[in-house]
Amino acid sequence: MTEASRVHGMPRRLAVPPEKVPSEGRRALFECEDKSLALFNVAGQLYAIDDSCPHQGASLCGGKLEGRVIQCCAHGLRFDLASGYLLNSNSVKVASYPVEVLDGQVFIVTAAEEPVV
Ligand code: FES
Repeated sequence: MTEASRVHGMPRRLAVPPEKVPSEGRRALFECEDKSLALFNVAGQLYAIDDSCPHQGASLCGGKLEGRVIQCCAHGLRFDLASGYLLNSNSVKVASYPVEVLDGQVFIVTAAEEPVV
């Protein structure tokens, strides 16, 4: 397949039911098709990440939150919610997703899977 014919996946938006949107300082877990997503509200800003630690897959939703840094409860690795990166690293990261608010409705933007070529 040439670069020109490469098909880019369309972004997908997952609508978050209003009653599930976490209030300030709280978090919520979503099952979305094949994955679990964790949504955090830090000082009014929403952050969405995969609820799976890149180390050994533990849930991050129940981790310890300090500012916008989440600490995995399994072995203590810490990730920046904004970028998904492990602190002091630019190679290890948990998938993070943009969060959009349109007319009061919260959406987590998850890209479609890249086609396997
Ligand atoms: S599984 Fe998260 S730090 Fe090990």
